[in-house]
Amino acid sequence: MQCFPFRLVLIAFVFLDSVDNVNAGITSRYTGKEWPAVDIPLDHEVFAVPKGHNAPQQVHITQGNYDGNAVIISWVTFGEPGFSEVQYGTSDKNYEFTAQGKMTNYTFYEYESGYIHHVLVDGLKFDTKYYYKIGNGDSAREFWFRTPPMIGPDVPYKFGIIGDLGQTYNSLSTLEHYMESGAQSVLFLGDLSYADRYQYNDVGIRWDSWGRFVERSTAYQPWIWCAGNHEIEYMPYMNEVVPFKSYLYRYPTPHLASMSSSPMWYAIRRASAHIIVLSNYSPFVKYTPQYLWLNEELENVDRENTPWLIVLMHVPMYNSNEEHFMEGESMRAVFEEWFVNHKVDVIFAGHVHAYERSYRISNIRYDVSSGERYPVPDESAPLYITVGDGGNSEGLAGRFRDPQPNYSAFREASYGHSTLEIMNRTHAFYHWNRNDEGKKVPTDSFVLHNQFWPSNVQESKLRKHNLSVLGRIASELKR
Ligand SMILES: *[C@@H]1O[C@H](CO)[C@@H](O)[C@H](O)[C@H]1NC(C)=O
Ligand SMILES: *[C@@H]1O[C@H](CO)[C@@H](O)[C@H](O)[C@H]1NC(C)=O
Ligand SMILES: *[C@@H]1O[C@H](CO)[C@@H](O)[C@H](O)[C@H]1NC(C)=O
Ligand SMILES: *[C@@H]1O[C@H](CO)[C@@H](O)[C@H](O)[C@H]1NC(C)=O
Ligand SMILES: [Fe+2]
Repeated sequence: MQCFPFRLVLIAFVFLDSVDNVNAGITSRYTGKEWPAVDIPLDHEVFAVPKGHNAPQQVHITQGNYDGNAVIISWVTFGEPGFSEVQYGTSDKNYEFTAQGKMTNYTFYEYESGYIHHVLVDGLKFDTKYYYKIGNGDSAREFWFRTPPMIGPDVPYKFGIIGDLGQTYNSLSTLEHYMESGAQSVLFLGDLSYADRYQYNDVGIRWDSWGRFVERSTAYQPWIWCAGNHEIEYMPYMNEVVPFKSYLYRYPTPHLASMSSSPMWYAIRRASAHIIVLSNYSPFVKYTPQYLWLNEELENVDRENTPWLIVLMHVPMYNSNEEHFMEGESMRAVFEEWFVNHKVDVIFAGHVHAYERSYRISNIRYDVSSGERYPVPDESAPLYITVGDGGNSEGLAGRFRDPQPNYSAFREASYGHSTLEIMNRTHAFYHWNRNDEGKKVPTDSFVLHNQFWPSNVQESKLRKHNLSVLGRIASELKR
């Protein structure tokens, strides 16, 4: 179905895949229309409150453990706490099991949140469809999700990538286009609701509307959360000074499963991917918990089992837009060398409301006394992709730096989302789809070759041989 346009775009862009500074990058002449970059009114049907007394709303799930055979199911009830209980099973309407969780609530200025329920459902079978039911009596609601296959080197899996979503008509297009993609889980790049653009009680109200807005997807498949600056909500004028308060109450992450001390940074493994989520707005310099944790977690990555190493963060380390230019430098200075040394495949970021993709480049020779300062082509380096174009009320970041720096391969200021379809340990198909006047148009596509497993069979065999030799030496040393 997707095949023909995919091939076509592939031919058009295939040359961009090579690390070759002879190829100048492309600045797309297409620019998305700003209009209408306003939030959808609260009485619109996309925010409809489910019918029934105390009906669960804002249902969302996320991965619940390291390898994906658990989910955290979350929802909100207003009026009464109800029970933090999920009934679930492998056939429709036949709920063999129950799981209990906990209820929490918070205030934000004078807004009082509903009762926020979080239930960990674990011990699930891999690659299995589960049906679940939450709420009571007439207002109970039923959903389903599918667990991923057990992790393994050649397990195919399709991720969606969305950032900076908000709750405008553009956000709605992005969400609808994403849901047509057939992807199985979303890697979310931060800046969820943009509720912080409101004041006083409207902040909480817009978190609630956003939860209902995305439920059409988040109730059925896990979204892997990463926090952005719009989650900070430092608002001293209304006496709200605890960073990430709304976000942390509402969107739990399985951080303990990867030995992280904070829900703001963590890792999961899913199918054939190892996914590391970082926080630009938590301490990350040397000796901080996030720094020490990342150092450990990179050592835990097992490319034999999860060949694809993907990092998510909110602020791009390579960006050639005037908007947020250089904001990622501090994290780049600390972590880039690790990403290159560990052959990270791709780093996704949001924050800049446009699309941009880099070549494989690095700038790890930089040092303040030597003056080396240009990013250079580097086969070991990750690709950097900015997908901050979900479509929020701040509108697009339309001003790119001119001329296009030589690290930038493709850039376009319009709304959209990406998908990464992993085929096996060597190949993944990547697409960025723009929202073109409401239509979904595949725009930037290429085959992503794994950084650890060379596509070339000879080399691949050699790598495998080398690894088994290394493994044998290691186990002999242990004896
Ligand atoms: C949470 O809900 C309980 C029960 O309704 C209520 O007594 C309490 O004040 C609420 N707490 C907050 C922080 O809103
Ligand atoms: C960009 O240009 C600089 C200066 O000419 C050069 O040193 C550097 O290697 C180039 N980088 C890339 C990624 O091509
Ligand atoms: C991996 O997938 C690609 C793309 O579908 C295919 O061309 C290649 O032959 C596959 N490799 C193996 C080892 O199956
Ligand atoms: C395998 O090991 C040899 C010798 O250390 C090295 O030269 C070669 O590059 C390695 N090959 C791969 C694919 O890692
Ligand atoms: Fe942002």
